[in-house]
Order: sequence, then C-alpha cells, then structure tokens
Amino acid sequence: MKSLVLFYSRTGTTTKVANALGTALSADIKEIKCPRYQGGWFAYLRAGYDSVKGRLPPIDVPDLSFDEYDLVIIGAPIWTSYPALPLRSFLARKPKLPSRVAVFFTLGGHSPAEKAVKMVEGLLPVPLEASLELPHDQVIEGRDSDTIETFVAKLNAIDG
Ligand SMILES: Cc1cc2nc3c(=O)[nH]c(=O)nc-3n(C[C@H](O)[C@H](O)[C@H](O)COP(=O)(O)O)c2cc1C
Repeated sequence: MKSLVLFYSRTGTTTKVANALGTALSADIKEIKCPRYQGGWFAYLRAGYDSVKGRLPPIDVPDLSFDEYDLVIIGAPIWTSYPALPLRSFLARKPKLPSRVAVFFTLGGHSPAEKAVKMVEGLLPVPLEASLELPHDQVIEGRDSDTIETFVAKLNAIDG
C-alpha cells in the first residue's frame, strides 16, 4: 500500500501529527502552504475572520500525482469549527484523489470536530474512510501516540 499524508499547519501542531502518521504508515508526507496566515496575532485574526466569512485563500500545493497512491490522509487544524481554510481551498480544487481517503484534525478542544468532518465528507467525491481528531494539548505534550496507533491500525485493517 502506498500512502500519502497531505496536511496544512499554521503553528506546527498538525505537522507533528502528520509526521507521526507518515512514519507509522511509511507514507510520503507533503505540506500545503498558505503564506496569508503565517505570523503572529494579525495572521491569527485574519485566519479567524476569513474562516467565518468562508473566504478561501490562495495556497501552494506540492506537485503530486494522487493516482500513485492507494490511500491519502489529509489533515489540518480546525478553525471556527470547520477545516482550516487552506485545506478547504485544496478540496475546492476537486483534486483527483484515490478511492481511499481519511482525514485528521488538531483542535484547541473548545468545539468538536464533527462539523469539520461533515464538511470534508461533503467536499470529497469518495466516501471518507476514517477520521481522527486530536486536541492541541495532547499533541504538544506527546500524549497522542495511543490514539495515533489505533487510527493507523484501523487504516491497516481496512487495507487487509
Ligand atoms: C483562526 C483559528 C480558529 C480556531 N478555531 C478553533 C475552533 O473553532 N475550535 C477549536 O477547538 N480550536 C480552534 N482553533 C485552535 C486550533 O485548531 C488548534 O490550536 C490547532 O491544533 C492548531 O494547529 P496548527 O498548530 O497545526 O496550526 C483555532 C485556531 C485558529 C488559528
């Protein structure tokens, strides 16, 4: 099975999970970049404002052929209860993803990931295979390994 972890992260939390998933699945790891939201408080406020407005930003996506992969796992933080805008920009491009797609989110913990998962389901042309949500504090404090292991085992079991 050839897998890809494709993620967006503004402040590094989601990057940590992407790296852990990539290692556990022996997957390629690629990042969606979005300069508009890099930086301190102003960028944070802009992210929140754009997110409430649903204003999709320009993004930089690595040059990828998704048909090389059996499984793509997309990941992002949650912003204002929904997937961070750069991931939404990516999905709005209607990329030709393989039939197996899973998603993971990191979040502050003050809202559940349910709405974000539903939005991703609505934007994908294929059924979402699995989803994972990890609170920011668990990731930063390294208390996320069991949850990640369970998620990876689930993906591998579906493969078998
Ligand atoms: C603009 C903005 C909006 C956010 N909205 C939410 C939210 O609605 N619910 C929540 O639990 N966390 C929210 N967060 C917290 C992030 O989801 C959380 O800190 C995440 O782990 C950050 O990931 P990153 O370091 O990869 O950017 C928000 C963060 C930002 C920047």
